[in-house]
Amino acid sequence: MTNNTRHPAAAIHVTPRPRRRHNHPVPGSPSSPEAEHATAQAGAFGVTVVGIGEDGWDGLADAAREALAGADVVLGGARQLALVAGWVRATEAWPRDLAAAAAALPDTHAGRRLVVLASGDPMHYGVGGTLTRVLGPGRVRVLPAPSSISLACARLGWPVEGVTVVSTLGRPYAAIGPELRADARVLVLTGDEDGADRVRRLVTERGLGADLTVLERLGGPHERVRVHPAGPAALPRHDRLAIVAVRCAPGEHRAVASQVPGLPDETFATDGVLTKQEVRAITLAALAPAPGELLWDVGAGSGGITTEWLRADLRCRVVAIEPRADRAAHVRANAERLAGVVASPAGAAAGAAAGRLRIVEGRAPDVLAGLPTPDAVFVGGGASIPGVIDACLAVLPPGGRLVVNAVTIETEAVLVDWHRRAGGRLRRIAISHAEPVGSFTAFRAALPVTQWVHTTRSEPVIPTG
Ligand SMILES: C[S@@+](CC[C@H](N)C(=O)[O-])C[C@H]1O[C@@H](n2cnc3c(N)ncnc32)[C@H](O)[C@@H]1O
Repeated sequence: MTNNTRHPAAAIHVTPRPRRRHNHPVPGSPSSPEAEHATAQAGAFGVTVVGIGEDGWDGLADAAREALAGADVVLGGARQLALVAGWVRATEAWPRDLAAAAAALPDTHAGRRLVVLASGDPMHYGVGGTLTRVLGPGRVRVLPAPSSISLACARLGWPVEGVTVVSTLGRPYAAIGPELRADARVLVLTGDEDGADRVRRLVTERGLGADLTVLERLGGPHERVRVHPAGPAALPRHDRLAIVAVRCAPGEHRAVASQVPGLPDETFATDGVLTKQEVRAITLAALAPAPGELLWDVGAGSGGITTEWLRADLRCRVVAIEPRADRAAHVRANAERLAGVVASPAGAAAGAAAGRLRIVEGRAPDVLAGLPTPDAVFVGGGASIPGVIDACLAVLPPGGRLVVNAVTIETEAVLVDWHRRAGGRLRRIAISHAEPVGSFTAFRAALPVTQWVHTTRSEPVIPTG
């Protein structure tokens, strides 16, 4: 065993020549076509990623064995490297900063046949995704093993296409919340020994009946599967790498379960300042969230629009602007409970790594400067303040949507003016609900909402007055 200084962050272990323990043919030699493949792709540098299960070398397909046996060096986590000890020439432990190490591989490992070991399917929440992103797919060959998801579904008798998968690795457990719906099947990837109990708490908080199955070390000699009903009693700890399968009982909670915007008003924590259900649904349709898009919710109130935007897709993001601290707290609570999104701590860095929700406590237009460019803007408060709509229009890229709701005559007048100058759609939304009047029933009208919907074009909107 020697240390190698070529890769500063990695420890190298050189093992003796590969030995054979099987009669299986292992044609992996440095000159075999399979072993050559990794370096042959895309010119000088290539890497093969081999997925390995808990059953180790015995469970590998021939192509994976050939790649490993022919490799000059095999990189992986300690757990995976232990599974191939004695079968490969040299191993290196991955450093902590995987993305940086991956980007450096063409320099640190130039001219070497390189194999990276990963658990199960490397393209499912695995190192394969990092390597193809950093190096480009043409330089990475992936040989997957069954993923832990496939193995869990096999044990549970659940079709893979009928489950929702949520990873808590590096993400808050709150992300599971919105997936816990009546009749749902959810697989939670956890990296914590108390993962099952944390899932149990989320299930019971929502008043759902459910069975939790904890599946540990799937596919290997130490595999263990235990079923627990979700109730008040804490669940036992388990292996750090486990899947917690949640089978929610059929029942009520249908409205919160729906993916379609227009959650009932009663589901929100609010002081009453909330865009009401029907108007909220119409507003979301106008805002038209797409995966990965960023919304500015100006005058976020209780977070009605913020929450529904975040629920539209796991990648949707929001900057919520609200001057009142008590309402900002409602935005935070509703986003966490109904969308499973935890707001970034105040003062956290902006940018892609900032998380899906940032709450800015302040007034528009003062606080708008310097915020990340939105794909859509909703103005639910502050539209009549000079400069607010101008500032929002100025930052929207072509194809961006601006939606402004007005209840007062003063704000409505502002929207009429903008519509005259900049076009778009101006509409009035008038909702009435049937309510008892004595022994009869009558429609009681809610305050009508005037809505201006504007989509930005490539040329800026320059109002001429
Ligand atoms: C009608 S509420 C919005 C409700 C929200 N869409 C919801 O569904 O929860 C309007 C909000 O705008 C906020 N507001 C008023 N003027 C503002 C300004 N200049 N900048 C930011 N927010 C403002 C108010 O504090 C109020 O909470």
